Amino acid sequence: MTNTDLVSDDTALRWIHEQGDLSWRRAFRGPPCQVKQARRFISETLDGSGSETEASTIVTELATNAIRHTPSGEGGWFGVEVTRNTAIVKLSVTDLGDGKGLNWDNSEFLDEGGRGLFVVRQMARSVGAARLQGLGHVVWATLQTAERRM
Ligand SMILES: Nc1ncnc2c1ncn2[C@@H]1O[C@H](COP(=O)(O)OP(=O)(O)O)[C@@H](O)[C@H]1O
Ligand SMILES: [Mg+2]
Repeated sequence: MTNTDLVSDDTALRWIHEQGDLSWRRAFRGPPCQVKQARRFISETLDGSGSETEASTIVTELATNAIRHTPSGEGGWFGVEVTRNTAIVKLSVTDLGDGKGLNWDNSEFLDEGGRGLFVVRQMARSVGAARLQGLGHVVWATLQTAERRM
């Protein structure tokens, strides 16, 4: 599918969104190469929306964290969910950890890592995290849709 195949007429967009929020979910295995697949999932899902570049950057950071900092990367899996309506795109990454140690602040100037979540927070309209009963933990970020920013 190319961008030109997407119908963005007002009536078509109204029809697509008339049931409220749209959601897509996919689960990925833990090896680092799967971050690329998660990025592709976001780019394709949001293709033509104007939010795909920021959204894939955010999901790249969150998915990398799931793999690096939780058992998702030790033979586990992580889940990616995109929810959108005409105003907001919400990106959620579920991991198999407990969320302890999650740090949204900037790291010290000379530290090599520790900037991913800070950058996500700067890009996003809102961010958050929550424990999931019996599963793990979800980290999410929202973006205003490109249409709303214009
Ligand atoms: N999904 C997560 N579960 C638990 N801890 C996390 C998670 N994501 C990030 N963290 C913690 O928050 C810190 C900051 O994350 P980040 O800014 O992405 O830096 P980095 O991944 O380079 O360490 C990490 O060092 C880690 O301790
Ligand atoms: Mg990180």
